[in-house]
Amino acid sequence: MYKKVLSLAIALSFSAGFASASDDPLRAQAKAVGLAPLPQTVEIPDNAITPEKVALGQMLFFEPRLSASQLISCNTCHNLGTGGDDNLPTSVGHGWQKGPRNAPTVLNAVFNKAQFWDGRAEDLKAQAKGPVQASVEMANKPEKVVATLKSMPEYVARFEAAFPGEEDPVTFDNMARAIEAFEATLLTPDAPFDRWLAGEDEALTADQKAGLKLFIQKGCTACHSGVNVGGQSYFPFGLVQKPDAKILPPEDKGRFKVTQSPADTYVFRAAPLRNVALTAPYFHSGQVWDLKEAVSIMGKAQLGMDLSEEEAGLIAQFLESLTGEQPQIRYPILPVETANTPRPAL
Ligand code: HEC
Ligand code: HEC
Repeated sequence: MYKKVLSLAIALSFSAGFASASDDPLRAQAKAVGLAPLPQTVEIPDNAITPEKVALGQMLFFEPRLSASQLISCNTCHNLGTGGDDNLPTSVGHGWQKGPRNAPTVLNAVFNKAQFWDGRAEDLKAQAKGPVQASVEMANKPEKVVATLKSMPEYVARFEAAFPGEEDPVTFDNMARAIEAFEATLLTPDAPFDRWLAGEDEALTADQKAGLKLFIQKGCTACHSGVNVGGQSYFPFGLVQKPDAKILPPEDKGRFKVTQSPADTYVFRAAPLRNVALTAPYFHSGQVWDLKEAVSIMGKAQLGMDLSEEEAGLIAQFLESLTGEQPQIRYPILPVETANTPRPAL
């Protein structure tokens, strides 16, 4: 029986050609450890994604008047032209203040189990209310945001279209819902790795395949797996060996601040690695600019391994294959202010 199956498999692999058959075992292994293709679209259970809501959410994402200064929009720190982040070590917000953490990308964020490095927001709509109010980010007040939006008739009409049947649709909550719907469209499918997973052997270079093998064999996939190659669970940063204080600043205790549990000291969400080649600098502290160096640090900190230069380089090349098709966004034209629009407060 076994012999028959084997000879059938060999016959099949001959007919499919050597090259394509040779990647199947690695592909099966990648799938077995939970690596998965990024879907083209996604649904949000409690927030229907309609064209009206997405269009409104896109305007709000680019709307600097959501901030007190009327100068800072979501796109300031999550620039959709540069991989959905700001390419700074830590973000700069209201009054040129430096925040404590690196901005993660908004691309594919919908697939993360929870939002922020410490997972303190359960989903994108809970998340979106944070930066608008955070004093080091947009420093605004919900009432002022609503007054600003209501002062411009085009926004009122667009909220009515996006939230049909609601008596008073221009609310802070609905702002967050519209932004969430837009963010759910910020997906980057068809990365070389996705095409390879789908059976296209030539989508990865030989070095990238070697890097993928190492990524699995060394144990990176224990924490970085699933559709987003991370973003699903929490681990101590420095599980085996603490990285130095520049990379893991002692004052940021990670999830401890969320749960108050001592076991969560220096625990962070395993970073999602989709598009990671576009989002340097790395780690919540944003102190490492080179992807290969970030890989070496992970080897030591999380696995207690000294990866060779060559191994770290191959893994970094594999990570580059996670860069997908970037969403093509048309910069929205925003409504002009009226006499009732609150004025900027710098
Ligand atoms: C001043 C810069 C700044 C602005 C403005 C800003 N963000 Fe962020 N954003 C950050 C930083 C920094 C973090 C990480 C903070 C943390 O983990 O504690 C973050 C985290 C996020 C995340 C979580 C991603 C993940 O993988 O966990 C999302 C989503 C997000 N922001 C969306 C938005 C939206 C929507 C807006 C506009 C309403 C916005 N941001 C405005 C800097 C900014
Ligand atoms: C025990 C779990 C664990 C293992 C194993 C692990 N990581 Fe991580 N990884 C994390 C966590 C947690 C973070 C977030 C660290 C922080 O707070 O900055 C992270 C962050 C990263 C980052 C930075 C991403 C960014 O956007 O800043 C890279 C790159 C990375 N890991 C690659 C790897 C590679 C490659 C391996 C295998 C050699 C690996 N990781 C093994 C948990 C793990």
